[in-house]
Amino acid sequence: MDGQDASGLEYNPSDPDVMADPFPVYEKLREEDPVHWSPSVKSWIITRYTDVRDMLLSDNLSVNRLVQFYTALPPREAELLKDMVYYLNLWLAFRDPPDHTRLRRIMRHAFTASAIEKMRPNIVEISNMLLDRLEEKKTDKVDLVREYALQLPAFVIMDLLDVPRDRLDDFKEWSDDMAVFIGGARNATDKYERAARGCTNMSAYFRELVIERSKNPKPGFLQDLIDARDKGDKLSDDELVATCILVLFAGHETTTNLIGNATLLFLRHPDQLNRLREEPALIQSAIEEVLRYDGPTNALVREVAEDHELHGKTLKEGERVFVMVNSANRDPRRFEDADTFDITRENNRHLTFGQGIHLCLGAKLAREEGRIAVQALFDRFPDISLDPDEGPEWLDAMVPRGTRRLPVRLGG
Ligand code: HEM
Repeated sequence: MDGQDASGLEYNPSDPDVMADPFPVYEKLREEDPVHWSPSVKSWIITRYTDVRDMLLSDNLSVNRLVQFYTALPPREAELLKDMVYYLNLWLAFRDPPDHTRLRRIMRHAFTASAIEKMRPNIVEISNMLLDRLEEKKTDKVDLVREYALQLPAFVIMDLLDVPRDRLDDFKEWSDDMAVFIGGARNATDKYERAARGCTNMSAYFRELVIERSKNPKPGFLQDLIDARDKGDKLSDDELVATCILVLFAGHETTTNLIGNATLLFLRHPDQLNRLREEPALIQSAIEEVLRYDGPTNALVREVAEDHELHGKTLKEGERVFVMVNSANRDPRRFEDADTFDITRENNRHLTFGQGIHLCLGAKLAREEGRIAVQALFDRFPDISLDPDEGPEWLDAMVPRGTRRLPVRLGG
């Protein structure tokens, strides 16, 4: 039967019930078939904490999965995706050592702690500006994703990369187009056309910007990227364009989902929201708990680089593996009361920013944005509640985890 393997277990990420709450099926997989072959996803599904962590640290798996994918495409699709695959192949996120080592060593010069620290006042300003706008809609039903969770990180990243804020709609559209491919949308039919269009628009924009900044330098993150050197080596123009796309892409949707998921969790757990209100200093551990309990990284994707065994199953070279981060973060073998949302949790070593050489470069910025956005929202609208008539709508994707729409009432 489609979607079922010999164990009788079925994992269907497109099932609306699974999208809304994947955790019951993760629990079953963790307990009954932790290295699960899914016929419908045509991939291995890995669900236990230690397996997920070890796989992210292992040389047996590769992130360089585009080559095989691209080679297998029919000619029309291959032509459509040519540019997109070219740029994605320049992302350090899709490179193994030694290419990854080189790119990461150059890029870390732009991702310094002090560069991120400088962003703080900007995040506060953007959050206040958006909340001021929301004051006017206090009596209406509001989609919190569209009006807040999406805009805040998008503006932060656009400011970081020197993109004027009035291009928000363009950037959102281009990035959504690319996301149907990168995020692994399961139900989109025109995903290659959309992805190609998004990439063409985005790369053209950044190419011009990089050329302009190379002629007329202006201090900031983009300039730091352009100037970043490691022993004389630097990013090529194509690598710079690809890196801008990566930062925009990696930096905003993930953080949107963090803010959206956090809002939903607090509204569903009023006791934890009250606890945070009594003790605002808990915001740090509260955001860590959101990242663990229902974080924006549902899964990460790898390709088997060398045949190897795991729990009695043989993973063969070239097969695709989904390491299910959100399942790992709920593994009772690693976390006490794993299914309890507890904002005072200590020793919260979740895997939401990855592990090993690809560990998220923007984690500090994302955490800062999450803390500011969530605290400012609940301070400004103490009576905010979920809309009683319309529930959240989840993203149709296997890799990110977040709400596409989150209807709320700001005035209670
Ligand atoms: C809550 C928000 C975020 C989450 C959950 C997140 C998560 C992740 C994860 C899991 C990885 C590793 C991917 C893998 O191993 O395949 C990663 C890599 C990366 N992230 Fe983030 N991220 C977030 C925000 C950001 C932001 C704000 C930026 C930039 C401003 C950023 C930039 C990057 C970059 C450049 C990489 C690639 C690192 C490498 O391959 O060496 N991320 N992120």
